[in-house]
Amino acid sequence: MLEIFYNRRSTRKFLNQSIEEDKIKKLLTAALLSPSSKGLRPWEFIIVDDPLKLEKLAICKPHGASLLKHAPLAIIIAGDKSKSDVWVEDCSVASVFIQLEAEALGLGSCWVQINRRYYNDDITSNEYIHDQFNIPERLEVLSIIGIGYKAAERQRLSDCDLLWDKISINNYKDPKIF
Ligand SMILES: Cc1cc2nc3c(=O)[nH]c(=O)nc-3n(C[C@H](O)[C@H](O)[C@H](O)COP(=O)(O)O)c2cc1C
Repeated sequence: MLEIFYNRRSTRKFLNQSIEEDKIKKLLTAALLSPSSKGLRPWEFIIVDDPLKLEKLAICKPHGASLLKHAPLAIIIAGDKSKSDVWVEDCSVASVFIQLEAEALGLGSCWVQINRRYYNDDITSNEYIHDQFNIPERLEVLSIIGIGYKAAERQRLSDCDLLWDKISINNYKDPKIF
């Protein structure tokens, strides 16, 4: 498991190669297996592989979404705010489960933040996506995960990246070196 964690880096450039159906099913299986507060599972997932729709997603905010234009697949993760007051947390966990399964399948992925982001001065990214995808009002979009075969391998994370000083034991900041 840690090998997957070390190897997972955000991928923003993808090969022009579609993802096999059985892999897409595994990505969705991972999402549906993710834990949620009180087991309420307030999330829903919209699979996007239509290039025209991906182009629309790529402009859902001014910065940080353009990678979706050339991704073969995007998964929109939305939470039902009427079902759970912690839909953000539940959708975040599902987003990461998808990213880790992507890495396990030899795919790259990148999180695109939607919650609290803006399409322009007046329209939120969430509202823009609702319009484009006919999403019901009760759902709020948390994130979009862009997924595809990596155009290039990025350097894996190493032990030097581990911020062990973020860790305390029993009392905050009692020193503990692993
Ligand atoms: C909550 C969250 C929001 C993010 N939003 C974006 C985003 O909108 N666009 C983007 O290109 N990357 C986004 N990322 C990816 C981060 O930039 C990336 O994870 C971080 O720089 C660390 O790099 P790594 O994933 O390669 O380890 C986001 C990641 C997280 C966890």
